[in-house]
Amino acid sequence: MFASKVNKLIRRLLFPFERRRYGDVAMEKSSPVSGYSRLVLGIETSCDDTAAAVISETGTILGESLHSQKEVHLRTGGIIPTVAQQLHREHIERVVQEALERSGVDPCQLSAVATTVKPGLALSLGVGLEFSLSFVRRYRTPFIPVHHMEAHALTVRLLQPVPFPFLVLLISGGHSLLAVARGVDDFLLLGHTLDEAPGDTLDKVARRLSLTEHPRCSTLSGGQAIELLAQEGDRLKFPFRTPMGQTYDCCFSFAGLRNQVNMTIEKKEAEEGIERGTLLSCVNDIVAATQHTVACHLAKRTHRAVLFCKANGLLPSLAPTLVVSGGVASNQYIRKALGIIAEATGLRLLCPPAKFCTDNGVMIAWNGVERLREGKGILPPDADVSYEPKAPLGVDLTSRVKAAAIKVPSVRIKIS
Ligand code: KG4
Ligand code: ZN
Repeated sequence: MFASKVNKLIRRLLFPFERRRYGDVAMEKSSPVSGYSRLVLGIETSCDDTAAAVISETGTILGESLHSQKEVHLRTGGIIPTVAQQLHREHIERVVQEALERSGVDPCQLSAVATTVKPGLALSLGVGLEFSLSFVRRYRTPFIPVHHMEAHALTVRLLQPVPFPFLVLLISGGHSLLAVARGVDDFLLLGHTLDEAPGDTLDKVARRLSLTEHPRCSTLSGGQAIELLAQEGDRLKFPFRTPMGQTYDCCFSFAGLRNQVNMTIEKKEAEEGIERGTLLSCVNDIVAATQHTVACHLAKRTHRAVLFCKANGLLPSLAPTLVVSGGVASNQYIRKALGIIAEATGLRLLCPPAKFCTDNGVMIAWNGVERLREGKGILPPDADVSYEPKAPLGVDLTSRVKAAAIKVPSVRIKIS
């Protein structure tokens, strides 16, 4: 016992920058917050939310805080990176302070700080990273850089036991991808968007329709506004084409759909003799049809991904699982469409509650816990870390999926 402590001490003196050392420190640090062995602070600033949370190794959320920039960006008609950066700068200290205070945890009790460093808006990522590095240097805390999409994919495991491997569809304002999650840092990428992300498309369509002028939508994100108004619309009035019908892979494309929708809006504005910026009388029908087409496109690609996984033995035969997360996954219509595919293919569908689908600090802290448990990617506080605006997730299998050219049997997406 004594000898092993001396050995450790000698190793630390000889190899002061050895990475494992910080894994060890993180393992050894125990928290005076009774009952919790290790505590992680998570920090998120990759897009337009400044968020932080403190969680225990067992997944108890001890304190969290979030400042959303949504209303500012709704007013300016989209995210302006310099504005996002300024707002992150103004709020990050308070948000982190609040999460810590609510948790009753002192910075010295933290076993690690986990922060999103990729992918995302460069100016936004920079604020979170700079703040985090000065924080970990001040308190001599190990640092865990986090991949934002990995965090979205793993959030479900905080909420319930979901063993690897599972299929995951991540749909947000910045991304859409299908992957097999095989481990904390082990993903197989089956498909991704070729142009824009579904949340981006919904936000742009909402903006083109001036939905913030609608009395029930003034503070809602584009996706939320579309979901709300679509409930009173007739999707059959505008039969938009589902994208990429002749491409038998698992990639996505939404720009063509947005073009179809824009052309319809222009035509309707001319027919109704109204200016751009005024609400169309058929706005509910247009958004219902847009939401339906997005749902069908996501469902079809996911269906093919399930068949590819089955053909290649990538999912367990017992209780194979489809996880759907990211901001757009809070949409109930889209969830139902994916539920139809899950049922048709015998998969169990899991979607975290909306609060955990959109960006939050808890998912980043949880990613820190998952990595801490496995001793993966834990860096010393003085490590040199940079942010990466673009960062693919996992091993790219998209060309193998395309080569397999799996034809998907027709499944009717009928949602009442
Ligand atoms: O994951 P998230 O919070 O941030 C990114 O990483 O992008 O996702 C934000 C996106 C926005 O585009 C927003 O319009 C969309 O998620 N979203 C929705 C809904 N709630 C948020 N889209 C469809 N239906 C919703 N209920
Ligand atoms: Zn996100």
